[in-house]
Amino acid sequence: IFRNKLTYFAAAKVSSSFPPAELPEIAFAGRSNVGKSSLLNSLTRQWGVVRTSDKPGHTQTINFFNLGTKLCLVDLPGYGFAYAKEEVKDAWEDLVKEYVSTRVGLKRVCLLIDTKWGMKPRDHELINLMERSQTKYQIVLTKTDTVFPLDVARRAMQIEENLTANKSIVQPVMMVSSKTGAGIQSLRTVLAKVARF
Ligand code: GTP
Ligand code: MG
Repeated sequence: IFRNKLTYFAAAKVSSSFPPAELPEIAFAGRSNVGKSSLLNSLTRQWGVVRTSDKPGHTQTINFFNLGTKLCLVDLPGYGFAYAKEEVKDAWEDLVKEYVSTRVGLKRVCLLIDTKWGMKPRDHELINLMERSQTKYQIVLTKTDTVFPLDVARRAMQIEENLTANKSIVQPVMMVSSKTGAGIQSLRTVLAKVARF
């Protein structure tokens, strides 16, 4: 499915402008700068459709992309961005929270965690929300190229152990690097199955 053409089709700043949910959706959430947009590019091997940036807080709207005619991929704005004004920051968070807890057709949220930094309070907040709304999610460790392989494995184990009591999580923790391509094919395989159901 990831060979299909990726086309941008909608952006939303408020929930009233979410496009109608006509396809199964997979969304990418996580702190600002964790590598959400880069991962979308790597998964689809299509660079330039989803914009990435060195500047945290780059993606400020929920962006919807069609992958062919069977699946919708959703790039969520990152949270925890230090430079944005408080009100703006809160508005983004409310938007993301509303999306993950109410969106019809949302099959899976990939919650991206920077391997080097691990989980932060905002990540736990989002997890709690997804547990409450029974939204299926899985953890994806990003930028694995920035730490030693042993530390990647340690981080994954630590997170898995921390979340064993959770009900809506889909294990195992996936590990990827958009820079080297490590783990990208495994994640494609997992997500392709999600898209089929
Ligand atoms: P926001 O839109 O601000 O929420 O950020 P984002 O999560 O979409 O991050 P984005 O994909 O724009 O990447 C942020 C920065 O991290 C960019 O400078 C990327 O080049 C870098 N980056 C992304 N993935 C990787 C990776 O796997 N390895 C390394 N070393 N850098 C990465
Ligand atoms: Mg982004």
